[in-house]
This record gives sequence, C-alpha cells and structure tokens, in this order.
Amino acid sequence: MQSDNLIEVRGLRTVLPLKNKELAAPVDDIDLDIPLRKTVGLVGESGCGKSMTARSIMRLLDYPIHIQEGTIAFRREGGSEIDLAAISEKEMRGVRGREISMIFQEPMTALNPSITVGKQVREAITLHENISRSAAKERVIKAFYDVGIPEPEQRYHAYPHQLSGGLRQRICIAMAMVLQPAFLIADEPTTALDVTVEAQILALMKQLQQDNDMSILLITHNLGVVADICDEVNVMYAGQIVEHAEKAELFRRTLHPYTRGLMKAIPRVRGSMEGELYTIQGTVPSLSQMPTACRFCARCPYAQEQCRNEMPSLRDVGNGHLVRCFREVEP
Ligand SMILES: Nc1ncnc2c1ncn2[C@@H]1O[C@H](COP(=O)(O)OP(=O)(O)OP(=O)(O)O)[C@@H](O)[C@H]1O
Ligand SMILES: [Mg+2]
Repeated sequence: MQSDNLIEVRGLRTVLPLKNKELAAPVDDIDLDIPLRKTVGLVGESGCGKSMTARSIMRLLDYPIHIQEGTIAFRREGGSEIDLAAISEKEMRGVRGREISMIFQEPMTALNPSITVGKQVREAITLHENISRSAAKERVIKAFYDVGIPEPEQRYHAYPHQLSGGLRQRICIAMAMVLQPAFLIADEPTTALDVTVEAQILALMKQLQQDNDMSILLITHNLGVVADICDEVNVMYAGQIVEHAEKAELFRRTLHPYTRGLMKAIPRVRGSMEGELYTIQGTVPSLSQMPTACRFCARCPYAQEQCRNEMPSLRDVGNGHLVRCFREVEP
C-alpha cells in the first residue's frame, strides 16, 4: 500500500444474480485510491454503480449481492493494514461507523422515524464506546453544534419528521462524524436538498474534513459539485472507471467522451431550470446486456470500428491521468 493512501481498492468486482441465474457485475474491476486527508469524487449517471461501489467498501451489500473478487486495503489508526473485502462481519462491525462511516443519499431512510435524533446519534457512540449516557449525550450535542445545528439541546429531542431536509442531513453528518472516522463516504449527500442548502452542506463537509484530518469519497452525478470540493476525480460508467485525474487536470484536459458529456451537462447556475440543459443521448447499458467492447461506444460521437470490437484498458496518459478510451491523446 502506498504510504500516502488511506484506502486502496484493487480489482473490485461485485456481482448479483440476474433472473436467468447469470451473474452481472455492477462493479466491474474497479481500482480506487483514497489518499490521506483528500476528497475524492466518484461521478457518473444514475445506474453506473456508484452506490454499489460505496456499499461494497462499507460491506453493506444486500444478499445475494456480494464481492466476488478484489481487495480493499485500509490503513487503520496506528498504521496496520486490513483488507475490508476479507475480514469477518464481526471485525467489520468494529470498523464500520467508527473508522469508516457513510452518509446516505436520502436522509429520511438513514434515520429511524420513531426514535429522537439525539438518541440515534447517542446509540451510534455507545455501540462502539463504553461511556455513560450523559457523557454520550454531551458528545452528541457537541457534534450537533459542530455541524451547525441551531439550538442543539432542543433539537436533541426532536424526531426526524420535525426537522427540515437540510437539518436531517446535518444530523446524518453528525452521526457519521461523531466518532471521528478516518474515512467518510458521502453518497449524493445533497441530492435531496435545494441549492442554497446544498452549498451550505458542501461547505460544511469541506470544513469538517480540514478540522478532522479525514478522507472523503464524495459520490455525485454532478461535476459542478466535484469542481467545488474534490481534489481528485474518478468518472464511472457502466461499472467501470473510465477516467481518473486530479481535479484541475481533469477540467483542463478532459479526455473521455463520456466525461466531456458530463461537463457539457453542468448547469451554469447549479439547480437552475432555465434553458435547455445538454444531456448525453442514449442510456447506460443494462446489467443483462453489458457490451464486451467499449461500454460507452453506442453513445459515443467518436466511436470507431475498434471501439465496437475491443474493450479499451484504463491507460496512463501522463500526469497521473488515466483514461479508458482508444482515441489518441495530445501530449
Ligand atoms: N438491490 C439491487 N438489486 C438488483 N440490482 C441492483 C440493486 N441495487 C442496484 N442494482 C443495479 O446495479 C446497478 C448499479 O446501481 P447503483 O445503485 O450502484 O447505481 P448509482 O450509480 O448509485 O446510481 P444513482 O445515481 O441512481 O444512485 C444498476 O444497474 C442498478 O439497477
Ligand atoms: Mg446511488
């Protein structure tokens, strides 16, 4: 494992059985590095396999979906390395929530509607730490304060439905952050929120990351969000990484036709509904009909004979920039 990485995913393949009993791979041979103290973006359209990648790392896959191949090396506090793909569920329960945690797309499904938010976050602490109820409560209120929840003592006793979407997502962030994990996965944390609240939540995440020396994997379908807060970007298409680069490099030299399409689809004013927004024509291939050649070629304006016959490999074009495309690249 490279010394500046917190996580190194290699050859990760997550499969699920289709109706005809064949195995499909919504995550197909993924390599992913999460450097220490960096925010890494994972971008792609709906159905590309972003959440499945996150759930694989968290080991939160619903049976019969399972990891078939690959390793997920994780550097623990103190420096020892473990393979999250290989450890037992019991060991994983000690890591999940404490060293690695996740914020989910829809804050309402992540919270239990019949338990006060304070108690839920308190239980996230007492699951891992042997501390008194009152000490845990103090930690919760501080966590609420840290994520900008006004009147945290009162909010402690609120039920999820009594809070706005933005506040609920702040509660989820507090729950994910309260044990100061080294790694946070945020799966479309702002999709359910309006634009101003989105901007506040993204600013909050950036702040928390700096204050806590944490690494973040930020999942989004919006390259505008990536431009705001990521250091590195991975673009995912149909279960594969198709482009990887540092953010500035990716925006300066966008190579994959799919990434170019996503770039053109960034609204000039985020969330604005005015005017025609560019969309990439066609759809992501279904799991049961995954092309054996380039998976994007049916939608690609540059597709040629080779693209329809062979699968391009993810190749290094210099500057730490990787691209899965046959097209010639200017130096
Ligand atoms: N529980 C499931 N059972 C069967 N197929 C699933 C399940 N969850 C996801 N899939 C399929 O796996 C593929 C990847 O889904 P995934 O949820 O990872 O996409 P995503 O990139 O997170 O999309 P979105 O942006 O909509 O959240 C899709 O084809 C999806 O239909
Ligand atoms: Mg998803």
